[in-house]
Amino acid sequence: MYKELLQELLKDKKIVAVVCNQWGDTGKGKLVDLLSDWADLIVRGTGGANAGHTISVGGQDFIFHLIPSGILHDQNGKINILGRGVAFDPRVVIEELEVLKIAGIEVKNLKISHQAPLILPYHLLIDRIADKNQKIGTTGRGIGPLYADFVSRHSLFVNDLFNPQVFKEKLTKFLNQKKSILDNLDREQAKEILLHPHLGAGKFFDPENIFDIDEIVKKYTTEYADQLRDFIINLEEYLNQAKKENKKILLEGAQGALLSIDYGTTKFQTSSDCTIAGLAKGCGLREREVDYIFGIAKAFYMTRVGNGPFPTELGAKESEEYCAAGHSKEEEKEKYASQVDDLLSKDELSQGIAFRLLGREYGATTGRPRRTGWLDLLALKYSMQFNGRHLTLTKVDVLTGIEKIKLCTGYKYTGPEIFYAGRKLKTGDEIDYFIPDSDILYHCQPLYQEFAAWSEDLTGIKSYPELPNAVKNLVEFIENYTQGIINVISVGPDREQTIIKI
Ligand code: GDP
Ligand code: IMO
Ligand code: MG
Repeated sequence: MYKELLQELLKDKKIVAVVCNQWGDTGKGKLVDLLSDWADLIVRGTGGANAGHTISVGGQDFIFHLIPSGILHDQNGKINILGRGVAFDPRVVIEELEVLKIAGIEVKNLKISHQAPLILPYHLLIDRIADKNQKIGTTGRGIGPLYADFVSRHSLFVNDLFNPQVFKEKLTKFLNQKKSILDNLDREQAKEILLHPHLGAGKFFDPENIFDIDEIVKKYTTEYADQLRDFIINLEEYLNQAKKENKKILLEGAQGALLSIDYGTTKFQTSSDCTIAGLAKGCGLREREVDYIFGIAKAFYMTRVGNGPFPTELGAKESEEYCAAGHSKEEEKEKYASQVDDLLSKDELSQGIAFRLLGREYGATTGRPRRTGWLDLLALKYSMQFNGRHLTLTKVDVLTGIEKIKLCTGYKYTGPEIFYAGRKLKTGDEIDYFIPDSDILYHCQPLYQEFAAWSEDLTGIKSYPELPNAVKNLVEFIENYTQGIINVISVGPDREQTIIKI
């Protein structure tokens, strides 16, 4: 049923995009896979292997970090492209191609922009060491150091993989420029990190200089280059031709607006612009070329993985610390899976664990527990300024059976007097706008409105009118509050568990 309505929704559209309005992990993978039926080309333009996008087909989960989520449609001739804005890690792409091959999918139509900046082992090393002090809780995939190098004009690009001499010269020069950082590193700590398979399993370690340049050159310009050579394209040229041929293009975002380097919660961000503007640019397009944007939000709860402010988090600071402490999915399941109902009637930290178990909220990249809390409408409205008014709600099935739903519609400021955006904030002030300044946001307490919940299973519902009234009330409230239009409601991980509302 969703297929016909989706066709109608996208009638006359040529370029559409999927982005997240929260802190990531909202189901971009599911939606992109579903829309790949409609699209001819699927392009990723931001982030790198920090992303973890899940596609669930007939109960089997595929998780992709770099390869676009349209890849399961490769066999139907769909073209999947890694754009120029992607932090390109050849090891990850090759590994993902291998996993697909084992699953019986021989990828033929993958394309890679020759201009994407290259993740190298030193980006992962610096990321992993730096995060021990900064406590952002990065994914350790080298993202921050790579984009920093890009902006300071110190990066290698995909094209360099195919010119060994140029690759070696650049690598030598850039590593030399990092000498003062590398010289100060603890050799033993560096060696231990370099033993990780993500960084060459020790092959790139040199006891004197930390990095063995020749080994890196060999691996990247022979082994990796040989496996990727046939996929390389000039992105802009390729897309110009596709547009001339009236091809339908789908852009796949990564992370979420609240993690964006431009608009996200300060200090606890990723390093690319995860909004539609950054995505379009990273795909070699302009934002105004995009005809329709699917702005996703989880409902009626939300999650964050890694540190940073999250006003509606169940269990607040205690939950942030608990989730950072390294509790595993297996440990939580074993301890609590049989007591979800009990947990829901206990303190907020326990309720947060219950939400995590109900929504299976564990990082697709790192396996870390995702912090959970109620849907924050101030944050959603803020993100929609950048991603537009068309909303997709996912995970709507998760809170079935809960006693009541709470939506955050205001904050109470509880911090010291401070000047913010031309106004003075003092303790006790009620505010109705989101504040991306993390130091201030940490002092914002949520104010809630409560709503009736439902007990009917939603996972088999195919059309909007069939949804319980309690769900429809919430949908309408969110539309009114945000001035948005909710066109898609997801009630399960599978393609079929999707409701289109036009
Ligand atoms: P992404 O990073 O935005 O692609 O999202 P992730 O893949 O990291 O996390 C979303 C998780 O929720 C995945 O495990 C999906 O299979 C699952 N999922 C997506 N949509 C729904 C939904 O509507 N209901 C439920 N229960 N799970 C969903
Ligand atoms: P997808 O695309 C959720 C978070 C990390 C950390 C911060 C910085 O699956 O939604 P980074 O490694 O990027 O330097 O980490 O950003 N983060 C994500 N959180 N989903 C993601 O991607 C994320 N990618 C990065 O947890 O807090
Ligand atoms: Mg994810």
